[in-house]
Amino acid sequence: MNSQLKQIVGEYEPGLPLDHSSTIPSSWYTSKDFYELERKTVFARSWQLAGRVDQVREPGNYVTSDIAGEPIVIVRGNDGVLRAFFNVCRHHAAAVMTEPHGKAAQLRCPYHGWTYSLEGELKGTPDFSGVCSFDRAQNGLVPLEFAEWENWLFVKLDHGPTLRDFLGADLIGQTSQLQLSELHWFERRHYSFDCNWKVFVDNYLDGGYHVPYLHKGLDSVLDYSNYMIENGAHHCLQWSPIVSEGAEAQTGAVRKGDRALYYWIYPNFMINWYDGVMDTNLVVPRGVDQTEVIFDFYFPDAMSEEARRESVAVGQRIQDEDTAICKSVQRGLNSRAYDRGRLSVRREAGEHLFHRLLHADVSR
Ligand code: FES
Ligand SMILES: [Fe+2]
Repeated sequence: MNSQLKQIVGEYEPGLPLDHSSTIPSSWYTSKDFYELERKTVFARSWQLAGRVDQVREPGNYVTSDIAGEPIVIVRGNDGVLRAFFNVCRHHAAAVMTEPHGKAAQLRCPYHGWTYSLEGELKGTPDFSGVCSFDRAQNGLVPLEFAEWENWLFVKLDHGPTLRDFLGADLIGQTSQLQLSELHWFERRHYSFDCNWKVFVDNYLDGGYHVPYLHKGLDSVLDYSNYMIENGAHHCLQWSPIVSEGAEAQTGAVRKGDRALYYWIYPNFMINWYDGVMDTNLVVPRGVDQTEVIFDFYFPDAMSEEARRESVAVGQRIQDEDTAICKSVQRGLNSRAYDRGRLSVRREAGEHLFHRLLHADVSR
């Protein structure tokens, strides 16, 4: 780590209690060096969403993704086992599988036609006879850590705790009550934000602080004064009772039930659950001030097409309401007038956890 980067990292004091704490410094949101450091630490060391279980039910089903700049493929073998590999050909490094997902009898590189079995072993190498000291068995696709949880597939670039140890028994127990496997994927949407990825996460973790000001529709169904924040070791649950009286019509029609649950899992995955409907958010850094947020919407089979469309539309409206404020915050973070801000004890415990976990990752 160069000395300037060391200084930036050292500017945050992780030991302060919430009532004495400030946010991470603005340089963490604007420095290209810091952004690169995060890629090698925060994103390489954490479990990252890389696909859905429903995409890989049969042998030969595969799904590709990009995790911290690394091409990844997850594939179900003929033996029924799911495996994750770096999607990088051992010949000259081209991506072997180029579609987002699909079904294949073997994994064939489009560049010079090398083929790998569904279990990752190198099988075919056209025009390669006479090559000395080449051990085919040592040239299979390179595996990486992989785990399944609920509806999702996760991978991790570096070695570290298992997914179950990372999530913890408390979170695993809570989500198992929600019967998430009964909900089925319906649609994916991509949103672009002109801000650092952490601006989006901070906005998500502000304990509903911005909801009455920015999201009038959502505010009409949430019980703001009873909005709760519960931190785990690597996650934060924010939840709110849902009220029907006085609900704005469009939002009230699709946000029903007793409670809204918002789970954030360090560093960049969120599960939003309202009475049997769910969406997830994956926050993907695309540059120091560019972020893509990938939304996946899940519904129970019994729900009508029209109700699903309306639910997605309400989700879209909430994102649109956040777009301008995230851009505004990023601009302010670049201002010479701003370095860091204090946190609300009532609302911003989730951000405090996020910033401390970040600090732990970038400083070790
Ligand atoms: S790079 Fe894959 S076959 Fe050459
Ligand atoms: Fe928001």
